[in-house]
Amino acid sequence: MCGIFGYIGERNDAGKVVVEGLKNLEYRGYDSWGVAWKSNGIVSVRKDVGKISDVRSEDFSDICSLAIAHTRWATHGGVTKINAHPHTSCDQTVAVIHNGIVENYEELRRELTAKGHRFVSQTDTEIIPHLIEEELKTTKDFAAAVRATCLRIRGRFAIVAIHTHSAMLVAARNGSPLIVGVKRGGGEVSAPGRIEGYFIASDIPAFLDQTRIVQYLDDGEMLVSDGKSILFSDIQTGEERPKREIEIQWTQQQAEKGDFEHYMMKEIMEQKESVARAVNQDDAQIMTLAKAIREAQGTFLVGCGTASKACLAAEYFFSVIADKHVNVAPASEFKLYHHFLKPESLIVVVSQSGETADVLEAMRVAKSAGSKVIAIVNNEGSTIAREADYALRINAGPERAVASTKALTGQLAVLLLIAYALAGKLREGKTLLLETSSAINDMLNPRYIERLKALADKIQTKRDIFIIGKSWNYPMALESAIKIQEVSYIHAEGFAGGELKHGPIALIEEGTPCIALIGKDEVEQDSLSNAIELKARGGFIIGISPDRYDAFDEWIRVPDATAAQAIVNIIPIQVLAYFLAVARGKNPDMPRNLAKSVTVK
Ligand code: F6R
Repeated sequence: MCGIFGYIGERNDAGKVVVEGLKNLEYRGYDSWGVAWKSNGIVSVRKDVGKISDVRSEDFSDICSLAIAHTRWATHGGVTKINAHPHTSCDQTVAVIHNGIVENYEELRRELTAKGHRFVSQTDTEIIPHLIEEELKTTKDFAAAVRATCLRIRGRFAIVAIHTHSAMLVAARNGSPLIVGVKRGGGEVSAPGRIEGYFIASDIPAFLDQTRIVQYLDDGEMLVSDGKSILFSDIQTGEERPKREIEIQWTQQQAEKGDFEHYMMKEIMEQKESVARAVNQDDAQIMTLAKAIREAQGTFLVGCGTASKACLAAEYFFSVIADKHVNVAPASEFKLYHHFLKPESLIVVVSQSGETADVLEAMRVAKSAGSKVIAIVNNEGSTIAREADYALRINAGPERAVASTKALTGQLAVLLLIAYALAGKLREGKTLLLETSSAINDMLNPRYIERLKALADKIQTKRDIFIIGKSWNYPMALESAIKIQEVSYIHAEGFAGGELKHGPIALIEEGTPCIALIGKDEVEQDSLSNAIELKARGGFIIGISPDRYDAFDEWIRVPDATAAQAIVNIIPIQVLAYFLAVARGKNPDMPRNLAKSVTVK
């Protein structure tokens, strides 16, 4: 949901720095881009429709040490050059980039228009530089003007602002992420050197090639920096908020595409190791979480999109492996569950980014009922990880493609491990998952990938694809549909195998691709019967299973992973979805209308 990047420091090529860094945030929005920089006491702005990856950083060669940049995912106002950020005040002295939504913008726009302000865009963001300009009529202190502005806007926001008459970069946050990268001469936290500059970004990959030392801005806080020092404070009270410097573990190499054409394929292939990394958890911590689930009076698993499918799979894990019932809800619906929440309830939120607005809201609803929150996250230091009572990391490393792949299998692995711990069989669970990890390594060989590419080429012109599964393969059927829809734009739908005959089977025509996800488990024969029902209506049956059956027109073999079957069955679908997108000429890393981290409701 929009990428924000700002730099202030010793370097005199700040424009180039922010354009380069912004390219690493393109997954957060790719409608349009814009840069504002300050040189010779003047704020200049350049922006356009299109992708930041197509912009040459060398074209930003003005000598300057302060610049901000933005890549947009449109919410208010269409995708036009005028609507791209940064937005400026009437006198062009204030430039602002923004992520979020100003909920009271109509009211503020009317008020400002009556005072003579002229607006050129259709965005809510444009209100902000005008409000700052208005505040600057009564104060010369730029930071004070930004603070006063933040107090007037309602809704979630992350903003970064610069001003012709100030040497400061000012940023504020309420609900949308902002992280500071601290560039020190000496590098490490343990041996801090002289400050060389600060990066302010919506996500860590923006500055990972420059520093791994970060400071987190929390909701309701702002920061002011002159490039040599930084001051954090409470927006409301102005009170100073001291911050720790934290050294994060991600490396630049992990965040790069390497030899792969797309991040999506790179991340799919990383599952050769990432599942094992997810399993690499502290036993005592897993046991503590299992105990919390056992003792809670009502456990709710909550997530959005792909993460919510991991939650649904976990409902089966807990039931089959640990004989334990848990409730599952999409985070966007969870608010309505508040009647069931009490201090003894436990909420397990699952999120790759740790910044998804609906998940954060669900978490806060739970906290306000006094319930405990456990977070299963990938992004270390994310808001969800920090606000939860307890956070467990899936250790997948940076996930850059919009379509979630390795994060899902990491989430499934951690949830499965907790289910085994709950059943008093943690060691057995670990062994199974490590064996599954090595089976994934064998499975993802070049011949296997070629086979899936050929299958994608064969079915890429089809209008619909249906996917069926039972038990934990049912949520994987739903997830398969998400993967295929979002990157290839083919209509795909997932069903519980037995549900098709109650209506959707009417959609099956001669040659309609139907994918059956099957494992060697108690529902194997039922799943097969469902596939046979589809074949009888003309369906072209693609079986994803350890065993081959006559009903299959195509068989994609997967290892027999028993309770971890959901993890191995979803991987060929990820590869298939990738190749469907490529065969149809779509960029799988940048699906239309989507952004990696959904920080608006
Ligand atoms: C689909 C996808 C999304 C995310 C969802 C939640 O491939 O990536 O459905 O799973 O937006 O995001 P996180 O896990 O960051 O909370």
